[in-house]
Order: sequence, then structure tokens, then C-alpha cells
Amino acid sequence: MKLNNRPIVKTAFTVLAAYMYSTSAHAQHTIYLETAQNALVLQTDSAHHLNNVYLGRRLNSAAGYEQIGLQPGDYTGMYNSAYTPAGSRNLLEPAIAVTHADGNNSLDLKYVNSDLKKLSDDISLLEVHLKDPAYEFEVTLFYKSYYREDVIEQWSQIVHHEKGQIILQKYASANLSLKGNSYWLKHYHGDWAHEMQPQETRLTAGIKTLDSKLGTRANLFMPSVFMVSLDRPATEDEGQVFCGALEWSGNFRSDLEIDPQNNLRIISGINNYASPYRLKPSEVFETPAFVYTYSDHGIGAASRNLHDWARKHKLLDGQGSRLTLLNNWESTYFDFNEEKLKALLKDTKKLGVDMFLLDDGWFGNKFPRNDDHAGLGDWQENRKKLPNGIASIAKSAQTDGVKFGIWIEPEMVNPKSDLYAKHPDWVIKQPHRDEFYFRNQLVLDLGNPEVQDFVYQVVDSLFIKDPNLAYLKWDCNAVIYNAYAVRLKNNQSQFYIDYVRGLYKVLQRIRKKYPSVPMMLCSGGGGRVDYGALQYFTEYWPSDNTDPLERIFIQWEYSFFYPAIASANHVTDWGKQPFKFRVDVAMMGKLGFDIVINKLGDQDMKFCQSAVQTYNQIKQVIWQGDQYRLASPYDNNVASIAYVSPDKTRAIMFNYLINYRYDEGSKRPVKLKGLDGSKSYLVKEINLYPGASPSYMQGIYAGDFLMKIGINPQVDNNHSSVIIELDEAR
Ligand code: DGJ
Repeated sequence: MKLNNRPIVKTAFTVLAAYMYSTSAHAQHTIYLETAQNALVLQTDSAHHLNNVYLGRRLNSAAGYEQIGLQPGDYTGMYNSAYTPAGSRNLLEPAIAVTHADGNNSLDLKYVNSDLKKLSDDISLLEVHLKDPAYEFEVTLFYKSYYREDVIEQWSQIVHHEKGQIILQKYASANLSLKGNSYWLKHYHGDWAHEMQPQETRLTAGIKTLDSKLGTRANLFMPSVFMVSLDRPATEDEGQVFCGALEWSGNFRSDLEIDPQNNLRIISGINNYASPYRLKPSEVFETPAFVYTYSDHGIGAASRNLHDWARKHKLLDGQGSRLTLLNNWESTYFDFNEEKLKALLKDTKKLGVDMFLLDDGWFGNKFPRNDDHAGLGDWQENRKKLPNGIASIAKSAQTDGVKFGIWIEPEMVNPKSDLYAKHPDWVIKQPHRDEFYFRNQLVLDLGNPEVQDFVYQVVDSLFIKDPNLAYLKWDCNAVIYNAYAVRLKNNQSQFYIDYVRGLYKVLQRIRKKYPSVPMMLCSGGGGRVDYGALQYFTEYWPSDNTDPLERIFIQWEYSFFYPAIASANHVTDWGKQPFKFRVDVAMMGKLGFDIVINKLGDQDMKFCQSAVQTYNQIKQVIWQGDQYRLASPYDNNVASIAYVSPDKTRAIMFNYLINYRYDEGSKRPVKLKGLDGSKSYLVKEINLYPGASPSYMQGIYAGDFLMKIGINPQVDNNHSSVIIELDEAR
């Protein structure tokens, strides 16, 4: 038995992220993928079936992976299958189910070979080929590892060479196994203005399914992100936790099944609901990636893995800059004209933010967009509101020295629109049933190449009107009812998949021509926040709920999966908290305003202006720093969150009063995290309201002190929000 575990490539930064070796004596292969902290280990049995045998902290010596061995006493030998095929020996939830060209429903997948490529210092790609011994049917499993970030993306490709079409009944992206004594699932539910409501529960025998069947605005009730703790609920700094998300902007399905041997099987992918997919011979079906990370020292580390990965490898321009802005949605709604907008441009300048963002309501003539009942689809400037078009607003913006961005919702149509009358066959609706509306609108069939062209043109024409257009807010307010595409005739089961693929095609086209224009991913709030879409977007809109107290919770939950730079946070009139509190909460991400600037009192205005300047000085730490959740709003009267610059020379700590009962406040010091224990820091309160004296008295403290003893941010009813800056004292 020869063990071949030498690194194939060695660099100054890292040894190879993945190795592969085999023990030919029993025709058994062990394949392992290592990242800085973790390892994923696959192993074949003597009949060449591939199994997950380990996902967890990596071993000191890779030789040990081979000793893990398969699990005895499994009736099928495939409870831990790396990609569970349906219809042969399997007794559990499958990852893949197929009806072959001859009508047979069975599938068996055997290991053929595997290949490992090092794509960069950080990234490796492992491909594992599987084949059915009885049918010309093949699956390739892909594992893309990000060594430094401890993240893996996993997906599959399915292809066959049978005589005729086959039907894919199920086609997961990933099939994983975790081994613990007990499993604690944290997942999310929600609705409009109610995004990211967490629930944590101990998994019991059977299957827990997280899914969406909404088509568009797919996360309205539930996003695909979730985490599983092993043995007990993980905390910020302790415990084993797995965090995962499907990179797909449509229907998803994740099954979490405890098998008869108490392994947790996780199978995640596109939801096969109403979607048996006909696959032609030689056509390759590729599933979207499922991204995940694992930490054995708490959720904080896992979330920072995802943040690092997202900023470096997924989110558009994740390491770049972002524009602060003034948005007019809540200050005008649909009621504006050129004069009002020009005044808002001046307000933008006065406020000191980078850009003015014109929201919904600027288009439609025969059916003017004066409320949400009409106009969607008719993307020509409304001549009454904007007699001189967008170009004129853009020109004024230039004169005023601010950038200009605009809202669109190009996937949708109001029945009261020219588009609806002209292209009824583009509209998703059932031919023999009544139309049913979500926000008085319907969805266009984005699976249709003509609709894709149309949506692309909507965007492209805006850049023709304003070549300097600085920003797009891409909204998507409706779910899909009455799913039916005229184009698909009697093969409607491709409908949902075609839609998302169509959306990505358009976004790819847009990004080809406009690679870096910032775009906000919005969906009636946070109805479409996922990494499938975020590779084309610079930021997302977490929720229309901008009540700052609510936002602390909503942003807190998103932050387990998404970095602060991607979170567009606007100061609005929602909520009862003081103005400073609202601004401070919005600073924990990408700052924007959606308030009537000219109605602000002098003090508020002064505060806003200085807050924008303060933000410009600290935003780099928030965007690119490591985030530490110091005190949870669920368990404490005061919530604290900190961002620490990668070189640990600066940190910004945000503290908010959560409990408004008599005399509540921060009674004890809060311990900082992630600082350099050997450095000293000047600690001072920033972003003070004009005339207010700091509640927190500045001083110099050792990093060691700050992390072991901590500081009391002095939050109370009179100082409900306190931002503290820590700067290395040299
Ligand atoms: C829903 C978005 O979430 C809001 O911010 C706003 O853009 C409206 N749509 C406009 O209709």
C-alpha cells in the first residue's frame, strides 16, 4: 500500500489546497480537499461507490484520512453517498433521480476517476467523475476550494448518451454528511419588511426541508442560507458550525435528514418542484453552486470566512469602493417632477453624499407610473414629470457635482401598460385562468430570449440617455403566480429553471458591457439576496424595514452570511429612535439616506453632514474589516458590533440600546475581539450629535486589556447609540 500524500505544488503562501491519493490494494480511493483549517474527505468502497467520510477540522497528517474508513452496519452502504442516486440500493433522500430514455427509474453511480487542478495560490478545483455501470449516464462532481477562506463551492454536471431524452427528476448541487451527536439547525423565515427572522431548532429524525417555490422574489418567505451546529448550538466563539447557501436566485430546496446511523445528510440544490427536466443526449446540465464553510470555533469565524470569500471571490467589486447616496423613494414616492428632482440634487450635494438615486415612478406615458397600478414595462420617461428626460436630470447632477443613479424593475409588467398590450405572450400567466397579481403586476418570461433582449435594452438604453449613469437599483417586487410560458408549449417543466438562467444571461450581458457600474440587488426589500445574483451586484437591499431597532436584528442576521460592504442601509423616517441612532445603524454597511433633507432642522442637518464625513473616514474598516459580533441584541440590553481592520490598527465599535425600560443601559464592560493584544489603542467616541458631550471618555488601553476586561460604551436612555473608534496609539 503506497501512500502518496506529497504536495503537488508548494508556494510561499500555502501548500496545495487539495491532495489525492489512492490505495489500490482494495481498489479503494481516498480523495481529500484541504483548506487552511478544514478537510473534506471522500472515499470509495470496494465496489467503487463514492462516499463522504469526513468534513471537519483537518488532520495534522493527511495519512490519517485514509484510516477514517467507511461506516459499518449501513444497510445500503450509501447513507453517506457523495451524490446519492435514486432507485437502486438507496433508502434515503436522493441527490439525483432520473428517468432514463427507456423509462427505467434506477440509477447507480460509480467512481471513475478524479482530477485536481490548482487554479491559483488560493483556489483548487477537484473534479470527480461518476458513471452508471448500466446506462450511458455520467455525473461530474465539482469542488472548488478556497484555501485561505476555508470555503468550498460545490456543484455537479450531468450528461448522458442514451437513445433519446431522459428526465432529471432531481438534481442537487451538493450532498454532504456531518457527524455529530445532535444537530441544531438555524434557518430563517420572513415576509415583506420582516426579513431574516431566525429560528433555531434541534433536528429530529426524518427530513427538515427548507425551500422556496416562489420563482421570483424567491426569498420572500425563506432564504436558502442556513447553519447547522454539531452537538450543541454554536456561539460566536465556540462550537462546531457549518454554514451554507445555494447560489441560485430562484426556487431552492435543502433537505436535512438524520439517517438511521445519526449522520446528518445535507442535500441542497434547485428545487425540483414542478421541474422534471428533459435532458437531450450530450446536453450538459450544470447545477448552481452550493457554498459552505465550517468552523470548530464558533459562528463568528465561519461568518468571517464567508465575508472574506465573498469580498475576494464572489461579490462584484467586493474589495472596491461604494457610493453613498440620497434616494427619493420615501421622500417623494411617485410624486415628483423635474423641479423637485433638481432640488434633490442640490440636497445631495449639501448632504455631502456621492450620488442621487431616482427611484420608482419616472416612466410610463399612456399609463403613467403615478402609483403601483400602472406603467411597469414602459420604460420611457414620463413626459409630464420629466419633460426633458433623464438626460436633463443627469446633466444637472453633473453641474451640481453629484453622481446620478436610477431604479428599474425590468422583469415585470403591469397589465396597465403598453408592453402588456403589445406582448401578451411575454407575460407569465395561465391561458385558461384568471390573472392573479402581486403588487398589481405580473412577471415577464425571462426564459424567452426576446424578453432577455428587452430587459437588456432597458438597461442599455439608460446608458445611451446618460453615458455617465453611475448606479442602478434593480428591483423585483412580484412572485410568480400561475407559472406558464407561452413559448414552452407542452414542456412547462423547464419554466422555473429557464427563468433564472435567463436572468443570469441578461446580467452577464450587462456585465460584459458595463463591468463595474454599481448595482443594488433589491426585491421589494430583501426578497432576492443570494450569491448567485450577487456576483453581478455590488450590494443588496436587506429590507424595506428601516426602523433602526429592527434593522439591528435584520442586519445582524444577514451578517452571518454577507459582508457589511454589500448591505445597503438607508436612513429613513421609520422608527422612533433618535436621528443619531438611525444614522449610526445605517453606517454599519453602505450608508445612504432616504429622508426629506430640506425639512431637517439645523442640528440634524449639521449632524448628517458631519456623519457623512465621519463615515468616509471609517468606511474602509467597515467594508474590509473583520466583523465581530460582541453582544447580541437578542440576549442583551445593549447590542455591540465591531469591525477591525485587517492589520488590526483600527477598529470601529457600534453600540445600541435595545431595551428601553427604566434605567436600562450598558452596565458592564463589553470585551473587544480581534485586536492585537500587544498593541495599545486610543479609544474615543465618534459621530457625536452637535453639542453633545461624549458619553464615553477617551483613553489609551492595551489591546490585551480591551479584549480581556473590555470597555463600557456608556449606553443608556440618553445615549442610546454610541460609536467608538479605536486607533493604534504609537
Ligand atoms: C420596493 C423597494 O424595496 C423599495 O425600496 C422601492 O424601490 C419600491 N420597491 C419602489 O416601488
